[in-house]
Amino acid sequence: MSLHPVRGEIAPRNLVNVLTRLRSLGLTARGSGVDNVRNITASPTAGFDPQELIDTRPFAHALHHYILNHRDLYGLPRKFNVAFEGGGSVDTVADTNDIGFMAVRVTEPAAGAALKDGVATAIEPGVYFRVELAGITGHKQLAADTGVIVKPSEAVAVAVAILRVFIENGDRTDRKKARLKYLIDKWGVSKFLAETQKKLAFPLVKLGMDKAQRRPPPLKHGHIGVYRQQQKGKNYIGVVIPVGVMTTRQMRRLADIATNYASGQLRLTPWQNLLIPDVPDAFVETVKRQFPRMGLHHEATNILGGLVACTGNTGCKFAATDTKGQAVALGEHLNQRLQLDQPINIHLTGCPHSCAQHYIGDIGLQGVKVNVAGASVEGYNIVFGGSYGADAAIGKDVFKGISFAEVPVLLEHVLQVYLERRQPNESFAAFTRRHEMKELQELFSS
Ligand code: HEM
Ligand code: SF4
Repeated sequence: MSLHPVRGEIAPRNLVNVLTRLRSLGLTARGSGVDNVRNITASPTAGFDPQELIDTRPFAHALHHYILNHRDLYGLPRKFNVAFEGGGSVDTVADTNDIGFMAVRVTEPAAGAALKDGVATAIEPGVYFRVELAGITGHKQLAADTGVIVKPSEAVAVAVAILRVFIENGDRTDRKKARLKYLIDKWGVSKFLAETQKKLAFPLVKLGMDKAQRRPPPLKHGHIGVYRQQQKGKNYIGVVIPVGVMTTRQMRRLADIATNYASGQLRLTPWQNLLIPDVPDAFVETVKRQFPRMGLHHEATNILGGLVACTGNTGCKFAATDTKGQAVALGEHLNQRLQLDQPINIHLTGCPHSCAQHYIGDIGLQGVKVNVAGASVEGYNIVFGGSYGADAAIGKDVFKGISFAEVPVLLEHVLQVYLERRQPNESFAAFTRRHEMKELQELFSS
């Protein structure tokens, strides 16, 4: 498979036209800059996933429009992201968000406790969201369950109340400490929830984790390939878009495929690829045949299926490295030399802001400048063993300041050592987690 990122830019003279055309397509860039709520995410397979508990699209839309219509929700102390996880087989990585709404099923009548006074509150069987707060993986923290369970119809109001508590009380003096995590570190979760409760017209209720079931874990690399939908005779196809970079020609062709063979929809995923939903059984083979003609594919190896990279220095002023180009080169190197029997995720991020969330990668790389023989070259700090969801963990810092020229060979060696020394069927994450940092350094350097 050939992987060659193509870079594009919008010239200043075209900006207004681009923004106007986006608006007429029903898209908006309002609120996308500076310190705002960004990327409210719903499950990529919402509405057609056979295992989902709830279709999360209405909540993401409602919150998006509420924010657009309320100026006070624009000037946040710092950035803020919200995910609605419906329980489908492609994860939203909700636990990396400031607020994660995690769908759960309550199977029999249960007694919750009102947050304010602990009064017993009857919880009817049904689907609810558990509220998780304060994920910020760049600061080595995943969102934690608060114990609060909300009816889906209350979720948007709860999100807005949380946002307003953050706006009114978040730190505006130190940008490094202005995220939700730091307000909650200062106050504790109880005080934060009590302040949130003051902004709501209905009581917040807590329910033990044992009374609310999550769906089975999502499928790692389930964003690539052909899968059956809830709707009989329909399939969604996950297409590999290497590090999320597409040409306009590829975009047009994908849109044509979606229009001619399916329902005209395309879905994006947090894994920098896209899904074509609603492909009838009879068209699956025809659609699969189209991808190689446009330089894409619906299959990836266990090495390439979870390769993600942030914008990097071709588009972001903070970047120390060319994350996208180097991710592709690294992926090609490893893919030509190794075969893995289990999927791994490799995340490359160009600076400590952690947009590509290197701390939740099985292998995570964070760009740095490295001094080699008196010259400053692009390099990476490398972490191992990160993950999310049921297997959540922050990766362990193992190597610092490795120049990119050395990274592909080093990681090839790392994966070879893992394959030789692992216990039967042990995942790469599990292997790296059962060793101390020093042991890993020795093992991988020998
Ligand atoms: C020019 C491009 C970009 C710039 C200048 C930028 C800037 C930033 C900054 C300053 C932060 C840190 C906020 C803080 O922790 O206080 C951040 C975090 C983040 N950005 Fe970006 N970003 C860019 C592109 C992207 C893209 C393309 C994505 C995803 C599609 C993304 C996703 C995120 C996420 C998920 C975080 C939070 C990371 C964490 O949990 O610690 N960013 N970004
Ligand atoms: S991680 Fe840093 S370099 Fe990469 S897009 Fe975010 S701010 Fe830019």
